[in-house]
Amino acid sequence: MSTSTIIRFENVTKQYDNDAAVLDNVSFEMERGKFYTLLGPSGCGKTTILRLISGLVEASHGKIYINDKLVNDVPANKRQVNTVFQDYALFPHLNVFENVAFGLRVKKLKNADIQKKVQEALRFVNLEAYENREISEMSGGQRQRVAIARAIVNEPEVLLLDEPLSALDLKLRTEMQYELRELQRRLGITFVFVTHDQEEALAMSDEIFVINKGKIQQRGVPTDIYDEPINRFVADFIGESNIIQGKMLRDFVVQFDGKEFECVDQGFNPNESVEVVIRPEDLEITTKEKGHLKVKVDSQLFRGVHYEICGYDENGNEWIVHSTKKAVVGEEIGLYFEPEAIHVMRLGETEEEFDARLEAYDDQGVENGN
Ligand SMILES: Nc1ncnc2c1ncn2[C@@H]1O[C@H](COP(=O)(O)OP(=O)(O)OP(=O)(O)O)[C@@H](O)[C@H]1O
Ligand SMILES: [Mg+2]
Repeated sequence: MSTSTIIRFENVTKQYDNDAAVLDNVSFEMERGKFYTLLGPSGCGKTTILRLISGLVEASHGKIYINDKLVNDVPANKRQVNTVFQDYALFPHLNVFENVAFGLRVKKLKNADIQKKVQEALRFVNLEAYENREISEMSGGQRQRVAIARAIVNEPEVLLLDEPLSALDLKLRTEMQYELRELQRRLGITFVFVTHDQEEALAMSDEIFVINKGKIQQRGVPTDIYDEPINRFVADFIGESNIIQGKMLRDFVVQFDGKEFECVDQGFNPNESVEVVIRPEDLEITTKEKGHLKVKVDSQLFRGVHYEICGYDENGNEWIVHSTKKAVVGEEIGLYFEPEAIHVMRLGETEEEFDARLEAYDDQGVENGN
């Protein structure tokens, strides 16, 4: 383990009662001082991961480490972790200052210290002038900042944020995205941020964990997750995709839509059934003769920066294209793409399984003297 690791899950499973696992044998590490995002649909297990980190629920199996220390049996109030909840959970009968001071009063700090720490926390979130305001007199975005100040005043090493922006309107939400990112940089602590909004995740994170059905499907920097989705779920959840059934004939050659294409993927079984992803912006409009695919344009929308063109090929597959070029509805166009634009995915494979497969494939290659 590297010295910069702050959180480590080792084969962690969580079941409530005797029901099916809501987290299923999950392992990962998080580094100190980074901004992590847990991204996935409702019920996939995001909040459960936060609760396991903060100690609000216990793991059914597996080990959880914070700062190299096994914390399975360490109670929540003894962990250097604070949470900002979705509804902020502020105390309506206390003013801004007392909301932030609450935890410090419980810890029985001296008044002068409380004064200093609260003011510092409020300065961090640009609310130093609001100490005496009632919570009911604060806007949604300001309440959000009070909740953050209340969490950071305890000087946690990890800040957990459970969909903290979902109650805000779009403009405020975008502003708070910048603010949170900036705050994380200034504080230099680890943020674990939960959202089911893929654009938010792409914009804010050092690293994204894409989760579905209690399993981490893929983790990585935003560009990798976007450019190299590991499976259909990730490709579909992050951005728009064309996903089509295909067959991996051999290394670097995939067949779909009745044709063979050069690609950059390897490590599949010969003739294995696969799914193929091509992003709409990687498709280039050309003439019928020059295109790899022939598509009849069905509809077209102007999206501000590009046109979104939708059409069908001879086999009835739908293709979405993002292009600065305009097309004509009803006309046949050619679609051209580079080998790098093709992403081949094994059916339902997670990143862990993918890594294991490549490793096995490399070993085999060495044994065979390749
Ligand atoms: N206390 C509980 N008892 C039983 N089942 C629970 C409990 N808490 C959560 N679950 C179940 O565990 C699963 C994962 O829940 P979790 O709250 O982690 O999802 P989530 O990804 O945060 O979803 P959302 O985006 O809706 O907040 C869900 O199916 C949920 O119903
Ligand atoms: Mg949740």
